[in-house]
Amino acid sequence: MKKFTVSTDRPYDILIGSNILEKAGTYLNTCLPPCRLCVITDSTVNSLYAQVIMTSLMEHGYQTSKIVFPAGEHSKNLTTYSNILEALADEGLTRSDAIIALGGGVVGDLAGFTAATYMRGIAYVLIPTTFMAAVDASIGGKNSINLLCGKNLAGVFWQPSMVFCDCHTFESLPQTKLLDGAAEAVKYAVISEESLFPHILKRDFTYIIERCVSIKKSIVEADERETGVRQLLNFGHTVGHGIEKLSSYSVSHGQAVAKGMVTEARAAYRCGLSPVDVSIPLEEILQQLGFDLSADYSADEIYHYALMDEKISGGQITLIVPESLGKCRLHKISLSELKTFIRLGLAK
Ligand code: GLY
Repeated sequence: MKKFTVSTDRPYDILIGSNILEKAGTYLNTCLPPCRLCVITDSTVNSLYAQVIMTSLMEHGYQTSKIVFPAGEHSKNLTTYSNILEALADEGLTRSDAIIALGGGVVGDLAGFTAATYMRGIAYVLIPTTFMAAVDASIGGKNSINLLCGKNLAGVFWQPSMVFCDCHTFESLPQTKLLDGAAEAVKYAVISEESLFPHILKRDFTYIIERCVSIKKSIVEADERETGVRQLLNFGHTVGHGIEKLSSYSVSHGQAVAKGMVTEARAAYRCGLSPVDVSIPLEEILQQLGFDLSADYSADEIYHYALMDEKISGGQITLIVPESLGKCRLHKISLSELKTFIRLGLAK
């Protein structure tokens, strides 16, 4: 078992192991006293892992209940959020109780956003069961839901009490879900650690997760509320979120981020912001991993949604500009320049 402690305002541990789900209760005892725990999960993960987790929690002195919602990005909305809040209130969950987020990025976002707002904030523990949630989404306390106008437009920073990650759960994931995680891992390689690439190609899950967690931990500790260096983690996401939204979420987060990273890297080079065109090696690696990098939408369409990006402030947006593979910097441009940037990134 590997342990990382994230030293945010409220510090917490990230535990990474394999075949550890049935020990969940033992580890939760170290961060939560006996209380009521509501497991929030989706329809896919419920049938796979809810029982083993709830049994372990009950054996360790917790009273448990469960809320299940339909799996998929379409559930990450105000309706599901409000249904969960009402269900918690109906059960009489109090401030001394807690939420267990069992699942991938959508579950973590919905459960974390609920935990942050129910009774002005209660504790929650993340148990990520997808590669994507393990390498990125479950670290750093960013939780959000989608609005009709765009992705992640209502959100909070609310750190968990613990992240408990069992790498064995990835074995049940289909290829598309593995690619979602691979895209985020590639992001870490581009912004911070080129030597991650061969490990990503070999699908060396434990190594990749430990490195990504370690990189993200340092970034989040330096900038918990994303006013500076944490923005590097948005590489590929401005274009990527636009593609996800334009496809009505039929293009998965990882697929969209892969397209977004290539587009943004190419645009940065063509605008003279990057000294080298890292989109060329990046495209090769992503294709080797099995990503479809075709351009589905026009610059105008993507720009329309980029204007709703949560990262816009004061009429400007912060770009993540590669200096080389493994090193990026932040660069602000005006919204009028953003359209040209996206157009140059998409042009062949
Ligand atoms: N997923 C990017 C971040 O947590 O900052």
